[in-house]
Amino acid sequence: MPSDLLDHARRAKGFMPEDEGALLHRVALERLPHGPVLEVGTYCGKSGIYLGAAAQQVTRDTGTTAVVFTVDHHRGSEENQAGWEHHDASVVDPEFGLMDTLGQFRKNIARAGLEDHVIAVVGRSTTVAAHWRTPLSLLFIDGGHGEEPARDDYRGWAHWVGSGGFLAIHDVFPDPADGGRPPYEQIYLPALASGAFTEVAHQGSLRVLRRDSGAAGDPLD
Ligand SMILES: C[S@@+](CC[C@H](N)C(=O)[O-])C[C@H]1O[C@@H](n2cnc3c(N)ncnc32)[C@H](O)[C@@H]1O
Repeated sequence: MPSDLLDHARRAKGFMPEDEGALLHRVALERLPHGPVLEVGTYCGKSGIYLGAAAQQVTRDTGTTAVVFTVDHHRGSEENQAGWEHHDASVVDPEFGLMDTLGQFRKNIARAGLEDHVIAVVGRSTTVAAHWRTPLSLLFIDGGHGEEPARDDYRGWAHWVGSGGFLAIHDVFPDPADGGRPPYEQIYLPALASGAFTEVAHQGSLRVLRRDSGAAGDPLD
């Protein structure tokens, strides 16, 4: 990770610890020559900078523009709303009384010089997934952490990972004492149970699985 981009990632609001961001950057560098990356859960672009830095590097190395799509309605997850642990009042739009992280994302990606590589898709994850048809070299799921959004993200997106591609999942806590269960129970365990994925790396709460059978678009169950 180039030090100037690491500085941008450090300055961005968000939920990606540096050691986990380094792993995300490494797996994106490995996978981006094989196709686009998609992230579910943009927030203010912190993880997007780690992914975008890899896309910029791969573009320089291959001469072909590498891209990361990042999906978010920018209204915050349940756990980001007022009264919850991860609420930040500075990202509330006073006109609507709703969160709006899109502006911060745009500034952070522009400041980092990554606008050609990190492409915002603004909308509900289930809606975008229902229309998505492109094989992914790496899917990073870090969207809503409730049971239903986590299940929807697995069902909507995981089958778009191509053969040999990676599924990265954030906030996987096998021990309930360490954190919420849905990413573990609704994404990580079903992916392994499908028989299509094998775990290949982890750092902190970030788990990386590789798709070893089936092709992008093939159902997983
Ligand atoms: C944990 S944050 C993402 C953190 C980010 N990856 C980072 O590194 O800082 C989760 C994000 O998922 C978004 N989100 C939650 N549920 C969603 C849904 N159903 N559709 C689209 N975005 C959603 C929220 O708006 C929030 O910005």
